[in-house]
Amino acid sequence: MSYNVICNNIQDTEMLAEKFAQIIKDTGCFVCLYGDVGAGKTAFVKYICKYLEVKEKVTSPSFVILNEYKTGMLPVYHFDLYRLENEGINTIINELNEYSEGNIATFIEWAEFSRNAIPFDRIEIHIKYIEDNKREFIINSYGNKSNQILKRLQK
Ligand SMILES: Nc1ncnc2c1ncn2[C@@H]1O[C@H](COP(=O)(O)OP(=O)(O)O)[C@@H](O)[C@H]1O
Ligand SMILES: [Mg+2]
Repeated sequence: MSYNVICNNIQDTEMLAEKFAQIIKDTGCFVCLYGDVGAGKTAFVKYICKYLEVKEKVTSPSFVILNEYKTGMLPVYHFDLYRLENEGINTIINELNEYSEGNIATFIEWAEFSRNAIPFDRIEIHIKYIEDNKREFIINSYGNKSNQILKRLQK
């Protein structure tokens, strides 16, 4: 399934994140995020965490690969694979598989470093910089669970 949304400003992005959070708070999700630096990957995850009532400060996991937030409605795992590159991904792919199951929310920035290695039920979000504060969110789902989430997001 595929769904495109134009966010004309950061408030639109926050509204999309709020809706997303409302849907996945009961089910969990596994989301791969793509987009250039500054596209809004981290911003989107931050807003989702806000609406999952995560109390910790949400920051970019660029230097640590994984941030975990345990204070929200469900556990949130926020990966950034930028520093892993291609060999590194092999060392965590089995672990990633575990993060794709169950009632947890997993977000992966720079998932392109594992493109061939993430075959699980997943949502892929490509964020495209259009201009200033305008972004296009191109959202695709693969697998049953993710299709259900996207169906509800489109409503
Ligand atoms: N509509 C929008 N959606 C998301 N981010 C936006 C939007 N408009 C402006 N921004 C800004 O763009 C920047 C995106 O940065 P960030 O989320 O760190 O990007 P990335 O993680 O993709 O490198 C933030 O400063 C954010 O406030
Ligand atoms: Mg980021």
